[in-house]
Amino acid sequence: MHTFSHRHFISAYQLSREDMLLTFRHATEYLDFLHSSDRKKDDLSGVSVVLAFFENSTRTRVSFEIAAKRLGAEVTSFQSAASSVSKGETLLDTILNIEAMKVDILIMRHLYSGAHEFLATRHGYPNGRVMGSIINAGDGQHEHPTQGLLDAFTIYQKFGAAGNGFYSDGLKGLKYCLVGDIRHSRVARSNIPLFKALGAEVAVCGPGTLMPPDLDALGVRLFNHIDEAVEWADALNVLRIQHERMEQGLIPTLREYISCFGVKRKHLQHKPQLAILHPGPINRGIELESDVADAAQSLILSQVERGVAVRMALLKLIAENRTRK
Ligand code: NCD
Repeated sequence: MHTFSHRHFISAYQLSREDMLLTFRHATEYLDFLHSSDRKKDDLSGVSVVLAFFENSTRTRVSFEIAAKRLGAEVTSFQSAASSVSKGETLLDTILNIEAMKVDILIMRHLYSGAHEFLATRHGYPNGRVMGSIINAGDGQHEHPTQGLLDAFTIYQKFGAAGNGFYSDGLKGLKYCLVGDIRHSRVARSNIPLFKALGAEVAVCGPGTLMPPDLDALGVRLFNHIDEAVEWADALNVLRIQHERMEQGLIPTLREYISCFGVKRKHLQHKPQLAILHPGPINRGIELESDVADAAQSLILSQVERGVAVRMALLKLIAENRTRK
């Protein structure tokens, strides 16, 4: 039986295929539990979880909070606007203070790429203090590994061994394409290694100006028009344009962007078996036509539902690992 040996979950690159399949096994059980009339389990009883979101979030924050509460954890939320961060305290001091209150698991979202790595490597073990586990709920434009995991779990449940069994060996052979603003997307940066580790073929589609400079190193295929991506892919993960993270002028006009990269009703009619994912928040009428978000092929709300189950699985595996050590 495979053992999950990670103290922190900061990057998708940490996980092996076996780690993912183990997480999916637990997530499948938790999804059944979420569909049942039982409201609470005690797998995380006595575990203290702090949600520290230094950047806006709707889905991810609520999803982690529900996941931790359904497992019986003690959950505390921390709003950065109401905290001493606004009085000039450093991130490291803020986190050391939170940890001094005996926190087991810190779930953090931060504006800066690499914030979690910095904390995990810098705030070592002064005076023999035991450090809590850190889970990355999004760091700048770097990574969002639990979003990547829940996207992979959603596809795995639909097409993999747990679903119609079409891909019985992980997601080997699945053709998966991320569409849109890849350059500023932490979701894309976590999706790419996770889907590749599960055996999928991964592509990206979007304007050259919204591609990351290290595209070659990522080992993905590139499409320059949505029609080509639709023709090739079994599933599309459609991303919004991250206006808040980009300089002006990376796309000519929104109309041209929509025409070349927007997913439209006609694409679903052309390829009825195509699955559509989106991490949210959706900008209806831009990256996808409103009808596409609500179509039968859209897995968008399935992703949200499975997100809770995946986060429950991850919290349980990390908490178990802490007690083993
Ligand atoms: C994403 C995020 O915040 O990284 N959403 C999410 O967590 N579900 C994607 C985005 O902001 O576009």
